[in-house]
Amino acid sequence: MPAPFAFLLLDVADRVATVTIHRPDKLNALNAQVIDELDRMFAALATRDDVGAIVLTGSGRAFVAGADIAEIAAAAATPAGLAAVSAHGSAVFTRIERLAKPVIAAVNGFALGGGCELALACHLRVASTHAKFGLPEVKLGLIPGYGGTQRLPRLVGQGRALQLILTGEAIDAETAHRIGLANEVVAGELLLEAARSLAKMMVAQGPLALAHAITAVTAGADLPLDAALAFEAEQFGAVGRTEDMREGTAAFLAKRAPAFRGA
Ligand code: COA
Repeated sequence: MPAPFAFLLLDVADRVATVTIHRPDKLNALNAQVIDELDRMFAALATRDDVGAIVLTGSGRAFVAGADIAEIAAAAATPAGLAAVSAHGSAVFTRIERLAKPVIAAVNGFALGGGCELALACHLRVASTHAKFGLPEVKLGLIPGYGGTQRLPRLVGQGRALQLILTGEAIDAETAHRIGLANEVVAGELLLEAARSLAKMMVAQGPLALAHAITAVTAGADLPLDAALAFEAEQFGAVGRTEDMREGTAAFLAKRAPAFRGA
């Protein structure tokens, strides 16, 4: 039997899974166990037929207040050092980004350091009005190590990313929205409903189309434009060989709702 989750809560309804990071006494800081549980949870959700999209949030007043600073300090003194910590955490976040199902971060409070990086690895970010985003690592004599130096500039541009990374200052939800870091901002009490409502719009679509769209966008982003366009054409061709594509186009022409089967 797989080990239970000590720091994650799971709820599944209407094909939308809600994963809640639950370590509120430490503002959901990411220790090694939380990172391993996230890896295990997302791998399990990837294979569940009753889950078409995932909402990721935090318990209490934080989404995630960063990597666990006590563990980071201890790991720095080991022979493998922080390079190993960064490589492992980054690989877990990349697996989340490459999941074939949409992942929406519902940012309920502090999303700092590794918490901001975790939100960046999700496909969309919905923020509550009292969310705070930041990469405060320089204040600890560190730099972001779970993808922040790479995903933030790709999302908001190098100048804005460097401002956040080099000052270490957090920004509020409205500012995050203005620079494209948050997709939407809603009142705290509406946050989960807003994130789930986006997820439900997605799970109503063909799951294979969602998977190919995620791959085209996330893997294509790292390619030069010509190669990226060729990659998009490959994905377009692959999705064109699915039953869902035949069903979607036939349903449109017959003026009826499509019934996608994920085949
Ligand atoms: N790692 C480990 N523990 C953390 C943590 C982190 N990243 N962030 C918060 N905590 C712990 C605190 O140590 C405290 O634990 P304690 O009650 O056992 O002392 C608890 O969470 C509550 O945090 P606290 O600092 O008392 O809350 P606050 O409201 O005064 O401040 C923050 C909130 C988010 C501003 C502050 O906790 C903070 O700056 N955290 C670190 C953010 C950071 O640098 N992240 C990047 C890490 S690489």
